Amino acid sequence: MNQISINEFIAGIPKAELHLHIEGTFEPELMFKIAHRNNIPINYSSVDDLKKAYNFNNLQEFLDIYYAGASVLIKEQDFYDLTWAYLTKVHKHNIVHTEIFFDPQTHTDRGVSFETVIHGIHNALEDGKEKLGISSQLIMCFLRHLDKESAVKTLTQALPYKKWITAVGLDSSELGNPPSKFERVFSKAIDEGFITVAHAGEEGPADYIWEAVNLLKVSRIDHGNRSLDDDQLIKFLAEKQIPLTICPLSNIKLKVVDDLKNHPLLELMDAGLMVTINSDDPAYFGGYMNENYSRIASALKLSKKQITELTINSFKSSFLPNSDKEKMIRKIEEYYQKNNN
Ligand code: ADE
Ligand code: ZN
Repeated sequence: MNQISINEFIAGIPKAELHLHIEGTFEPELMFKIAHRNNIPINYSSVDDLKKAYNFNNLQEFLDIYYAGASVLIKEQDFYDLTWAYLTKVHKHNIVHTEIFFDPQTHTDRGVSFETVIHGIHNALEDGKEKLGISSQLIMCFLRHLDKESAVKTLTQALPYKKWITAVGLDSSELGNPPSKFERVFSKAIDEGFITVAHAGEEGPADYIWEAVNLLKVSRIDHGNRSLDDDQLIKFLAEKQIPLTICPLSNIKLKVVDDLKNHPLLELMDAGLMVTINSDDPAYFGGYMNENYSRIASALKLSKKQITELTINSFKSSFLPNSDKEKMIRKIEEYYQKNNN
């Protein structure tokens, strides 16, 4: 049997994506197109000019550009087109399940209604299921740089759409905005039946991860790189198998990690943590899922067995029903048996 390369192996293996901001999939070409049809000026003269600005020294420098980009999204069709573009792209990456973050406050603060945002995204996800066979769930994130009252208002706006939203999350500027600030709104969300997740330990300290677990009762930690600063925390996360959604290319672009060769992924795996690979904001960070897998595999010399383990983790860590998880794990194991030569 012909041996396939590690990149071919990665391309063909079924994957779930668990850390993906839909606003972070906004490719410059689509951004210019939507800005033009909405008559909104963009501060850059061309797609190339805009792409040159994608050099960030930290999370905040990225967020400033990311929010500016999202400001051209006005109509339901814009949110549909954004989501549909992501789905058609990752269909080619063999992503069969995706759990997508959206940031309603980025849009409602500009006068775009919650309904407009969620209808556009939801309709594209429905088409994704029907036409591409991609299952999906939605995670509504609160922007942590805004006050907690705004988060409560957003949760209230979401209640009529409960059946379309699986979980609530926490994103945006981490330092100075600890999970404890959002304890009350997360508690309300749990009472309403939402699962919870939170970005923690991307730039913020390991203490923020403890807060996310203990106060926000999260089922997953988004990023969580800084957990390695705290031996007790590593032990706890391993014992409880609380998944970390790791984003290699994001970590490089935002200088959370200086070089992929120094990425903590293997250390986390060796410590027995449930880790997954994800793309975060692929339009800004230089790659979608397969690039994230390929680049980290090459930097850390990952084996096909380790890639298989990471993709199995992506389904185990998902919010899919157990029967779907088991079905996907069996498929991945068959794929490995066929292609591990
Ligand atoms: N919003 C979009 N991407 C983010 C990230 N990597 N961290 C925090 N907030 C975000
Ligand atoms: Zn993120």
